[in-house]
Amino acid sequence: MSKAPERVAELRRLIDHHNRKYYVDAQPEISDREFDRLLEELKELEAKHPELITPDSPSQRVGGAPIDGFVTVRHRQPMLSIDNTYKPEELREFDRRIKKLLGGEPVKYVVELKIDGVAISLTYEGGVFTVGATRGDGEQGDDVTHNLKTIRELPLTLSSTALQGRPDGPGDPSYIPKLLEARGEVYMKREDLAKTNRERIAKGLEPLINPRNSTAGSLKLLDPRECAKRRLRLFTYALGAFDGIDVKTHLDGLALLKKFGFPVNPHIEPFDTIEGVIAYCDSWATKRNDLPYDTDGMVVKVNDFEQRRRLGTTSKSPRWVVAYKFAAEQGLTKLESIDVQVGKLGTLTPVANLTPVKLAGTTVSRASLHNAEFISSKDIRVGDMVVVEKAGEIIPYVVRAEHGARTGAEKKFEFPKKCPHCGSPVELDKNGTFYRCTGGRNCTAQIKEILRAFARRSAMDIEGLGVKIIDQLVDTGLVNSIPDVYRLTLEKLLELERMGEKSAQNLLDGIQASKERGLARLLAGMAIQHVGDSVADLLAREFGSMDELMNAKAERLSQINGVGPVLAESIHAYFQSPASRKVIEELRELGVKMTEEKPAKPKGGADLTGKTVVVTGSLKKYEREEIEAVIRQLGGKAAGSVSKNTAFVVAGEKAGSKLDKAKELGVQVMTEEEFDQFIAKT
Ligand code: IVH
Repeated sequence: MSKAPERVAELRRLIDHHNRKYYVDAQPEISDREFDRLLEELKELEAKHPELITPDSPSQRVGGAPIDGFVTVRHRQPMLSIDNTYKPEELREFDRRIKKLLGGEPVKYVVELKIDGVAISLTYEGGVFTVGATRGDGEQGDDVTHNLKTIRELPLTLSSTALQGRPDGPGDPSYIPKLLEARGEVYMKREDLAKTNRERIAKGLEPLINPRNSTAGSLKLLDPRECAKRRLRLFTYALGAFDGIDVKTHLDGLALLKKFGFPVNPHIEPFDTIEGVIAYCDSWATKRNDLPYDTDGMVVKVNDFEQRRRLGTTSKSPRWVVAYKFAAEQGLTKLESIDVQVGKLGTLTPVANLTPVKLAGTTVSRASLHNAEFISSKDIRVGDMVVVEKAGEIIPYVVRAEHGARTGAEKKFEFPKKCPHCGSPVELDKNGTFYRCTGGRNCTAQIKEILRAFARRSAMDIEGLGVKIIDQLVDTGLVNSIPDVYRLTLEKLLELERMGEKSAQNLLDGIQASKERGLARLLAGMAIQHVGDSVADLLAREFGSMDELMNAKAERLSQINGVGPVLAESIHAYFQSPASRKVIEELRELGVKMTEEKPAKPKGGADLTGKTVVVTGSLKKYEREEIEAVIRQLGGKAAGSVSKNTAFVVAGEKAGSKLDKAKELGVQVMTEEEFDQFIAKT
């Protein structure tokens, strides 16, 4: 058996090695039990030979006694903050400024995730971790060494092989810099917060609200044994002060940190152009939700240290770095309850009622939870704290539930077995995603939705037939189907509460006028699965009459450019159903027009055939649906997202990400006035 000092040294080397393999490389070579055995052996030996204990021994990670209070430490170099940007244009501005200050030299940027945790500085003297401190006010922070040591992936000693073979190393394989300061972010994985909270709740303690707050709180604990329970993690992203090593670029610095045994985030990319930077940043806007930890943006850094030196620092932050915050604003709020709405096709949609929260300038209190699969895959429960996101004009979206913040009082959501509106049985559709009410025309909620869709502006545009009247008409039993609308009379309408003769007559006039809207608008209003305004338009143009369309085979339908097999099947199935045929026959008898003339091109006759146009922002003259109808009339397609195939974008006020995207891709942008001139003159 080897002598105690040698065995202790060997055990420490082995433990450090396996720690690194497990926590930094995620490639463990031995089992947890084998690892524990090594640590036990070391502790036993150190107990027998206390003179061998050193502060950097792995046995000391959690071994320290609680501290009395925090000691303030001055940073060797100030820990500065960074400027924030929110839009691609601001990144281009950052790039222009840098190029100008550097006299137009080429610049390499390095882009990293902005980890949402707590900034720390780690000092290694002679290769041994001596002091770890929080940022504090940037000049001085709190010494939290005792707690940082509990982070398993934080090296207590620098891996001595890091400089081996480096031309700039001193040639000695065991060479270690005199001084090395690593900077990084301590954070907590979301699932670890959840585990910690389960333990806290079991003990009757309050759960911790989110990973960043609990990281900050954990570092402020006096007892490292308590901190160890919080399962903190670390990424290093920069060198601070250093002495005795030669590093010229950020990428070299990161490579060196890795070799010394520090954890460095894998999602780091260099770019030679700002457009590359922007595309990479944007690629993380939604992908980041799949990471096991929180991020709040990206960080863009100039790679070359000499260029950094010349760029210098303003009073607040360095000129060579900028943060790019994701456009979407996120907020944390409570999911109070879940309502079930019934759509026009009977689909049950769960909708979250939220404690109101301000996001991107509006107050959000409801958000769709889409379907059963959405709820179960994200494990969302009633009573959960949820992260809600809203970007510009986009509807609010529930990103995830903070499983970590659970108290145990949360309730799993069960879809009702019966329709909450009509009591008919509910069934799961053949794809297993959506629940549907089987009540059909017996479900008043479905009828109301069908009527709303029918009367809306871009469909039959029935003036006076709004949500409130529809509710009344259906609730009183006056209207049970679309044809019933055309059977309304003055006498019947006057039976309704608060319905005067004038409004009744106006409504009847509106209904009468709608008979002439033509096939396209009629189809758009008929609640055919997957058939929205633009498909309705396409079908009307292609077939010209309801009879032609009704008798078309699925193969014929799928030959139409823009109609895929799923859509073709859905249209075919609709017209084969006796119930739909009955509705159509009734409407025909009631005098509703069932044909479409080949659309006369509006004056001037601009031709948008084959062109895709995107409308964004709020317009003055047109409603969104109106301008999209004009685009379709001219043969174009109105799309929802900008791509390189977009012919042009019409941008109104407060246009957001779509406008940015258009600029980025070099897609032509028009104002509303320019659009009007364009369609008039061409
Ligand atoms: S670089 C002087 N890189 O973001 C610039 N910071 O205000 C040094 N952060 O609290 C910071 N991830 O701790 C940098 N990859 C990253 C980062 C990052 C997160 C934090 C940083 C600070 C804040 C910037």
